[in-house]
Amino acid sequence: MERGRKEVFSILGDDPELEKIKEQIEAAKAAVRKEDFDPHREEKKLVSENLGNVRQIIAVHSGKGGVGKTFIAVNLAFTLAKKGHKIGLLDADIDCPNVARFLNIDENELEVDEQGKILPLIHKGVKIMSSHFLSLNPEEPMIVRGPIKHGVLKDILSTVEWGELDYLIIDLPPGTSDVPMSTMLLADIDGLIVVTTPQKEALMDAKKSALMARKLNVPIIGIIENMSGDIFGNNAEKLAETLGTQLIASIPLSREIAKTNEEGKIAFEIDSLTNEVSDIINKLSIKIRRRV
Ligand SMILES: Nc1ncnc2c1ncn2[C@@H]1O[C@H](COP(=O)(O)OP(=O)(O)O)[C@@H](O)[C@H]1O
Ligand SMILES: [Mg+2]
Repeated sequence: MERGRKEVFSILGDDPELEKIKEQIEAAKAAVRKEDFDPHREEKKLVSENLGNVRQIIAVHSGKGGVGKTFIAVNLAFTLAKKGHKIGLLDADIDCPNVARFLNIDENELEVDEQGKILPLIHKGVKIMSSHFLSLNPEEPMIVRGPIKHGVLKDILSTVEWGELDYLIIDLPPGTSDVPMSTMLLADIDGLIVVTTPQKEALMDAKKSALMARKLNVPIIGIIENMSGDIFGNNAEKLAETLGTQLIASIPLSREIAKTNEEGKIAFEIDSLTNEVSDIINKLSIKIRRRV
């Protein structure tokens, strides 16, 4: 054995190619050590090629579920569309998508273009994509592990034909793993809106959302405090300060907002809610438009 090894080394030692191979091995090792080594490079390339005609990607997130991310994403998308922008709304919650329910969309079939690319569904002028439309029975649970969700998200981001968009609004699921992480890694997000409610656990999870975004180099637009008022209080200002970002607005916990959402209506379209929601979402959309 020892003899065999010596023989191999002596043969290699005389080989002028050996130094070259050694250099290549060292370069590969250095690349792996370097912080900018990116295991998602290929997937990111596919996604950025596919989203080449999207001017801005805005994501809505929070570590916690049930704080109003979907409510805000939907209203933001339709407010921007009403202002004349070309809007796409991506429901990135792969296993429990809610956008179709929020908008009372019954259709469940997507069209495919000549190149075999999936076309988003168009609802009141907004292009919408959701795994809800990919499911044969949206009422059945999708029981899958993280890698499958990553795969579905990657396919959606890299193959859906949005055409030209001014803004793609991404409604993210809660948490700091799986889909939110994959979205932040794969898509070149221009700005993140962090949603929280005034309760301590929501603030704690919103902070995690913001810190995750910072770690993954996603710029934060600011925080929206939802469901504020007499019952839960107004507590997000301090979080905004701690994070060095701005509290964009506080939306009250409101019987009328709850009812409007339940009915599948869009809150900013309801006259009686104009002051409560429309002004706030308008403020948000102005902040977003200023960033272009
Ligand atoms: N300001 C509000 N006042 C009353 N109900 C609200 C308000 N914001 C959201 N809701 C309701 O709270 C629930 C959770 O909101 P949702 O947008 O689905 O949260 P998330 O996407 O963060 O899980 C929904 O039923 C929604 O209609
Ligand atoms: Mg949601």
